[in-house]
Amino acid sequence: MGIVESVPVALEVRAVDKIFKGPAGPLPALAGVDLAVPAGEFATLIGPSGCGKSTLFNIIAGLDEPDGGSIALGGRADAARLGRVAYMPQKDLLLPWRTVLDNVILPLEVRGVPRERARREALDLFPEFGLAGFERAYPAALSGGMRQRAAFLRTTLARGGLLLLDEPFGALDALTRARLQEWLLGVWERHRRTTLFITHDVDEAIFLADRIYVMSPRPGRVALARRVPLPRPRDPAVTTAPEFIRLKAELLAVLRGEGPGEAAGVEPDGLDPVAEGLRPRNTPSGMNPPTRVGTR
Ligand SMILES: Nc1ncnc2c1ncn2[C@@H]1O[C@H](COP(=O)(O)OP(=O)(O)OP(=O)(O)O)[C@@H](O)[C@H]1O
Ligand SMILES: [Mg+2]
Repeated sequence: MGIVESVPVALEVRAVDKIFKGPAGPLPALAGVDLAVPAGEFATLIGPSGCGKSTLFNIIAGLDEPDGGSIALGGRADAARLGRVAYMPQKDLLLPWRTVLDNVILPLEVRGVPRERARREALDLFPEFGLAGFERAYPAALSGGMRQRAAFLRTTLARGGLLLLDEPFGALDALTRARLQEWLLGVWERHRRTTLFITHDVDEAIFLADRIYVMSPRPGRVALARRVPLPRPRDPAVTTAPEFIRLKAELLAVLRGEGPGEAAGVEPDGLDPVAEGLRPRNTPSGMNPPTRVGTR
């Protein structure tokens, strides 16, 4: 079964392959990745370090091309993806010589919005992003969490229905990270922008998401797809719910290479480009990551 007609799908990745030229010959990074994100949903992508998550984001954003397969944005599978996706790369890439305000207006300036108008538009958002009072500061004066919020504010000002966030909280301490997860959920619940979010953290993947994709080690493919059966709005207490604990155990088993189990792949909503990606091909063995996989 393909995509259910009534579900508008913001992103559909089908059978995407990517092979890099490595020093010792071809390096297959992605092998038949299938996933989809319906409009208005929050999806997380989890997988070990080096499995090709950032590579997939670069391809979705149009910064790189796949060697096989296709990407459709808003139902259109044409090649022109650049500028149609709001992408926050793994490194925050704030420009040290620009103030926080002038960093966040970059996507507006690129679009040709005059600088003063762009500044006015962005200033309204500083309180929601916890950056009020730091508009004229330089990035060096911000804490790690503030830098991430500034990079996130900049990303939300970029055009495009789809938000791609590559491990935005990866480098933060546990407390800051937990606070930012709650804050992000609040922002997301107010705006409901379609999001695909990379993480190494299983709890974070479940807490934030409507839908989770687990990738295998390189060459990456989707080893498991699951909907998150938890109501919204969510608060941290949800991490002790039986459904949360069950899902966590299932994800960890797949991340440890214990296989997806017989029922894996059947997406209850029929949105199953994923089902194909669940074939246990290239299934690795002997992989044994901790809860936070591939911590660097
Ligand atoms: N431009 C490139 N040229 C050659 N090899 C590359 C290139 N980009 C990535 N790779 C390789 O492709 C594989 C996947 O890299 P990628 O950065 O996508 O992993 P990742 O899942 O994002 O890892 P992490 O969780 O550590 O960020 C790695 O083996 C990496 O060395
Ligand atoms: Mg990465």
